[in-house]
Amino acid sequence: MHYASTCITPLRPRKKSSFILPLHPAFCIFRPSKNIIMNNDEKLYKATMNFAREMDDADILSDFRNKFLIPQHEGKDVIYFCGNSLGLQPKHAIDYYKQELSDWATYGVEGHFQAKRPWFSYHKFFTESLTKIVGATEKEVVAMNTLTVNLHLLMLSFYKPDKKRYKIIMEAGAFPSDMYAMETQVRFHGFDPDDAIIEIAPRKGEHTIHHSDIEAAIKKNKNSLALVLFGGVNYYTGQYFDLKHIVEMAHSVGSLAGFDLAHAVGNKVLHLHDWKVDFACWCSYKYLNSGPGAVGGIFVHEKHTRNPDTFRLGGWWGHDEKTRFKMKKGFKPTKTAESWQMSNAQVLNMAAHRASLDIFDEVSMTDLAQKSYDLTGYAETLLKQITHLKFEIITPPNPVDRGCQLSLLFKSKGREVFDHLQKNGVIADWREPNVIRIAPVPLYNSFQDVYTMYEILKNMK
Ligand SMILES: Cc1ncc(COP(=O)(O)O)c(C=O)c1O
Repeated sequence: MHYASTCITPLRPRKKSSFILPLHPAFCIFRPSKNIIMNNDEKLYKATMNFAREMDDADILSDFRNKFLIPQHEGKDVIYFCGNSLGLQPKHAIDYYKQELSDWATYGVEGHFQAKRPWFSYHKFFTESLTKIVGATEKEVVAMNTLTVNLHLLMLSFYKPDKKRYKIIMEAGAFPSDMYAMETQVRFHGFDPDDAIIEIAPRKGEHTIHHSDIEAAIKKNKNSLALVLFGGVNYYTGQYFDLKHIVEMAHSVGSLAGFDLAHAVGNKVLHLHDWKVDFACWCSYKYLNSGPGAVGGIFVHEKHTRNPDTFRLGGWWGHDEKTRFKMKKGFKPTKTAESWQMSNAQVLNMAAHRASLDIFDEVSMTDLAQKSYDLTGYAETLLKQITHLKFEIITPPNPVDRGCQLSLLFKSKGREVFDHLQKNGVIADWREPNVIRIAPVPLYNSFQDVYTMYEILKNMK
């Protein structure tokens, strides 16, 4: 079995620095007189540009920023904290498009076999990189379609309700597309969404979900539960769920467990295979930086891909490669996740994805997560010093329970703050009714970005 390691040599040796933390933001105490923020190990987060610069100098991943095109504001790089919505363009993405257009011009239909990356097997050029990003074997992943489409296809395979087992447990406040997908799947099978869908909500007065409440709901519905389908990271609060534990709980009562990893892929260290996740899907336009509307991806655990009884809707690209062009009746799926593909690869939509995965091939998710831990911790610590703006950070304070996103819930003036950030060259995103999400992305954001945002907010009248 090719099980992907998540460790790849970093770009350059780790620099020696007294600032390689990790600092746990929960332990930080701010000393305003000295602009020093200190944790209980006497290591320092300082609210100064010099400190931010030193952190950037010590950052083994800082060169990766140069691989991206950063939008401009008044002649300077914007502070781009919106990778949770649309990641930045890799500089070399354009070369990948040029290559495909040139191969099309040169070879016409022969490009299916003659192109630099032959289109016949184009989807395979993503597999190895994706196995490292999500912790899977090569049989378990494929890049295809888009996220909601994939969610439906996977639910057709893995949500097989009967009169006894038909319920789905999901998070309250999931992304609307997921709500609609689940609602319509339930109706498609003839059930009532109000009865079949159980939503786990934060407790009264809280913003994030207790894992013990997920566990209690699973136990309570142990005889009627067909599927637990959660986001990996909730899009609104930035809460990361304990996928491994959810899977264990679901399996212990005879249910399956699947995940929408839109906000987790390329953000958190994942081990989908080892955690025995049944299925998952994601998009590649957020942390995977593959462009607007870019191709999605799926994971199906090998125990299902090799099971001939696992249902998948048929199409020629999911059919056994050896007999694909015999044009005969009888769908014979390959024994891998590729069998969920129906159509041939959308090459011109996928070229930027390959460009982006080149960058991920050079870095380990572990190193990214480590930087994320520091960068988001720094952002959180500085934001907490801003007392004249009335907001609360609703993202979990423990780095284990979040990725690189922080969600700021405003009690007042949220929209004004958002506009102020934008006017000053900080791109964040606004979520109704009153949340600003900021995502310091370890691949291209710097500690200086974080500090500059802090100054902009501090100086807002
Ligand atoms: C968590 C989540 N699920 C689903 C979607 C919908 O994705 P798509 O438009 O690719 O189907 C999004 C889009 O941002 C999302 O964030």
